[in-house]
Amino acid sequence: MRKSLVVTGIVIAALVFAMPTLAATATEAPEDVVIDQCMAKKSAVNFPHAAHFELTECTTCHHTNEGLTAESDMEVPSCASCHKDPEAAETPDCAQMSLSKNPYHVSCVTCHKESGVEAAPTKCDGCHPKAS
Ligand code: HEC
Ligand code: HEC
Ligand code: HEC
Ligand code: HEC
Repeated sequence: MRKSLVVTGIVIAALVFAMPTLAATATEAPEDVVIDQCMAKKSAVNFPHAAHFELTECTTCHHTNEGLTAESDMEVPSCASCHKDPEAAETPDCAQMSLSKNPYHVSCVTCHKESGVEAAPTKCDGCHPKAS
């Protein structure tokens, strides 16, 4: 009894530990995503993922997944798996406030500004809604 409990505990611990490294594949691409893995000072960002598929290529954002399409069975690591507490100092850190350094700001805000489309938020509150 005791022993099986311990074993169960170890199995659960291993599963929980392994969880964040399990990457989804392209066909499991979520419709909407709440981006919150780097959250500290600002609120989580609601991201209409699928709505962006017709605006640009998958690889514009998933820049390490060469050849990624909606049909591929490629595993897609989360941005945060590389950009949160990055190992190399030159890898941009997603905990940065700066519009020119945070990788999300560089990717999301730059395109929104360049698009000139009013529905594409460029102000802080447009992506990080204030707590009501
Ligand atoms: C187009 C959307 C967008 C806009 C506009 C935007 N951000 Fe962000 N920002 C993000 C995303 C996405 C993240 C990553 C959030 C996460 O992973 O928790 C982020 C992360 C951050 C972070 C680091 C995480 C945290 O919670 O501390 C700060 C600070 C931040 N933004 C501040 C700002 C400020 C200040 C502005 C306005 C000058 C701004 N952002 C405008 C999308 C945006
Ligand atoms: C405009 C940027 C952008 C585009 C275009 C985009 N994605 Fe994403 N995708 C993201 C972000 C941001 C996330 C979630 C945040 C993260 O990865 O931490 C995400 C998450 C995913 C995930 C889940 C990853 C995981 O392990 O949780 C998959 C799978 C995925 N995208 C596949 C695709 C495919 C396939 C396409 C093209 C059809 C695509 N994405 C286009 C930005 C984008
Ligand atoms: C496998 C690791 C990895 C993943 C996953 C990853 N990145 Fe990166 N990213 C890097 C590294 C390393 C760099 C710095 C070297 C380079 O530019 O390739 C970088 C650079 C960037 C830059 C350039 C920043 C600048 O100042 O020019 C942006 C923007 C960016 N990443 C956004 C994203 C977004 C958004 C996602 C998720 C949709 C993502 N990255 C997923 C490793 C990764
Ligand atoms: C390649 C350019 C591009 C990139 C990269 C991009 N966006 Fe957008 N985004 C747009 C455009 C264009 C619109 C306006 C779409 C429309 O008019 O339907 C938009 C709209 C949005 C909206 C508003 C949707 C609505 O209907 O209210 C949000 C929120 C958003 N983007 C978040 C993000 C976040 C967060 C990222 C980075 C992870 C990102 N976007 C990356 C081009 C981009």
